[in-house]
Amino acid sequence: MNAESRQSEELNRRNSAFDNRLRPTDFDGFVGQRKVRERMLLAVKAAKERGEPLDHVLFSGPPGLGKTTLSYILGEAMGVNVKTTSGPVITKPGDLAGLLTSLEPGDIVFIDEIHRMAKTVEEYLYSAMEDYAIDIMLDQGPNARSVRLELPRFTLVGATTRIGLIAAPLRARFGFVNRLYYYEPAQLAEIVRRSASKLAVDIDGDGALEIARRSRGTPRIANNLLRRVRDYAQINADNFITGEVAESSLALLEIDPHGLDDMDRRILETICVKFGGGPVGLSTVAVSVGEEPDTIEEAYEPFLIMEGYIERTPKGRVATPLAYDRLGLEQQEK
Ligand SMILES: Nc1ncnc2c1ncn2[C@@H]1O[C@H](COP(=O)(O)OP(=O)(O)O)[C@@H](O)[C@H]1O
Ligand SMILES: [Mg+2]
Repeated sequence: MNAESRQSEELNRRNSAFDNRLRPTDFDGFVGQRKVRERMLLAVKAAKERGEPLDHVLFSGPPGLGKTTLSYILGEAMGVNVKTTSGPVITKPGDLAGLLTSLEPGDIVFIDEIHRMAKTVEEYLYSAMEDYAIDIMLDQGPNARSVRLELPRFTLVGATTRIGLIAAPLRARFGFVNRLYYYEPAQLAEIVRRSASKLAVDIDGDGALEIARRSRGTPRIANNLLRRVRDYAQINADNFITGEVAESSLALLEIDPHGLDDMDRRILETICVKFGGGPVGLSTVAVSVGEEPDTIEEAYEPFLIMEGYIERTPKGRVATPLAYDRLGLEQQEK
């Protein structure tokens, strides 16, 4: 693992302590994503009735929408262990074999960022998923021979922010391919209310909605903002979050009222100001804002496109009048 991924691993770990505390543990506690929820509830029920493990499941969607949460909910609902790993950590077939041979029948293996798994390992995963066996090569040269390791029947749950990077043969081996979408403000407000009660802070409907509106359609952001607003409410408002309290504390934190974060704004500014509204290519935008093209495409663009700030055209990204509006800019004549 290189320094960069170690660092992001560390960051993930710290964030996840907080995520874990607010993570719903069953389908009842999981708000929104109705179709995915219903589909998985049904699948769990049917598998349990047959006494079989759940079919392999893939979750895709931008960060913070509930992929990890759903994986644990599946484990809980099936009454099995969930063993967690992530794509970049499995670098050789042996890593995968070690993990899969340690399972009990029916267990879930959760591979986060599955699109980042090494291609050489991916092929072993195919037979593991399909035949519950792995052929491992021992030795090299004239002594080379392969041994077949039988595996217990398990369920692979994969999560990815980049469904487009999942090779067709891998994708085809998942019984369920679930796409998660950004949440509506009302759903985020519901999530905020539930989290507030877990954190033992009082909140009213307006307070929850103020936080929800600024959360970029993302539960993780909603929970993080709630954590900040809670500090403010504790010191200034008797631990009670009203609409006004939420507004003042979010203004103090300079959180954009439309949920745009710093990088969102830089991307929009780049397209609107530096490139006269576009069209401009993704890689040019990326260099301009100092971020990886991949990250822009998977974590920022989907939201900006959904909210109608930018459009994707064959020639590149184009800013809409709404983008100029939000930045408080006049659109230049072309
Ligand atoms: N539908 C939901 N209902 C309630 N909380 C949610 C929901 N989706 C996500 N969360 C919360 O948001 C945070 C991030 O979710 P997570 O599953 O880690 O996202 P992902 O794995 O997609 O990046 C967690 O604290 C989780 O509890
Ligand atoms: Mg996750």
